[in-house]
Amino acid sequence: MSSTTVAIGSDHAGFRLKEVLKAAMQGQGIEVLDVGTMTTDSCDYPAIAQDLCRAVLSRGVPGVLVCGTGIGMSMAANRFPGIRAAVCANAYQCEMTRRHNDCNVLCLGERVTGDGAALQILDFFLNTEFEGGRHQRRVDLMDPAS
Ligand code: RB5
Repeated sequence: MSSTTVAIGSDHAGFRLKEVLKAAMQGQGIEVLDVGTMTTDSCDYPAIAQDLCRAVLSRGVPGVLVCGTGIGMSMAANRFPGIRAAVCANAYQCEMTRRHNDCNVLCLGERVTGDGAALQILDFFLNTEFEGGRHQRRVDLMDPAS
């Protein structure tokens, strides 16, 4: 997945790592659409996740969400049909969720994952292609028939 634009968002607990990831992407010439938060003041992660998901769905770009654990962000993001958010704590998880699940929102925990590992995970997220084939069928099956 090579994209020239990436959306990013965090709550207060992920703000510092968000800034690290944003700077790294901008350094690679990627346009970063930052939906906030812009300070370490306490805020509610679901609102940020929702803004990020709307940007991902309307613009067709990948997204990155950071909170303390990555978990709350992923739960909120996965309530949107068409969003496939995955919390990744290592590069292998990220490579596989791109190859097999066509993950379009990477969730990271600033309190869980160090900067170096987070940057490596981000690299896999941005540069691993979805394999399609049988995995496309399974991705299509994720949304239950109503
Ligand atoms: C904030 O303290 C923390 O709950 C939040 O960042 C996140 O980890 C929730 O899942």
